[in-house]
Amino acid sequence: MKRRAIVFAGSAVAGLIAIAAIAQQQSGESDVDGVTFFGEPVTSDEIALGQDLYAANCASCHGVDLEGQPDWKRRLDSDRMPAPPHDETGHTWHHADRQLFIITKLGVGGVVPGYESDMPAFEGMLTDAEIRAVLAFIKSTWPDRQRAFQAEVTANDEGGS
Ligand code: HEC
Repeated sequence: MKRRAIVFAGSAVAGLIAIAAIAQQQSGESDVDGVTFFGEPVTSDEIALGQDLYAANCASCHGVDLEGQPDWKRRLDSDRMPAPPHDETGHTWHHADRQLFIITKLGVGGVVPGYESDMPAFEGMLTDAEIRAVLAFIKSTWPDRQRAFQAEVTANDEGGS
């Protein structure tokens, strides 16, 4: 009798795991926690892609945990700025989606012409879809307050919604 109860419990657990796996698969098609980019919902597959792209292309300067370079508010000897954090302690969330996209694609010079910076332009290295994915990943890590603030900035940004 006892043995049968254990077998039954085991198959119930297996059933739950199967349901969880299906739910996870389906979430690949739905939006994640309301993260949007240019007003479009972002999928969990895009966020996962963005996480890999972040590790390969951005973490060396902006930090594995998005923490930025040490002492990032102080200019380097080269007179350029270090890489700021992309988490809530930085100011990435102060900028609209359009600005973040342009900075990543064209470098800071894309928004401030002539500005000298160590931030590379990723045009030709990442596709527009990959840039969107990496920025969506960054956005998905922000707490609600920063995400709501940045959504507001994006909504008010002319042509950037
Ligand atoms: C070689 C180092 C380096 C790499 C790699 C790098 N960045 Fe940067 N990034 C910087 C620096 C330095 C700044 C600060 C620019 C300045 O103010 O002069 C910056 C600034 C930025 C900003 C503006 C942040 C703000 O608050 O103003 C964004 C957005 C950004 N980077 C995104 C990315 C993304 C996305 C990647 C990867 C695809 C990446 N960066 C890879 C060095 C780097």
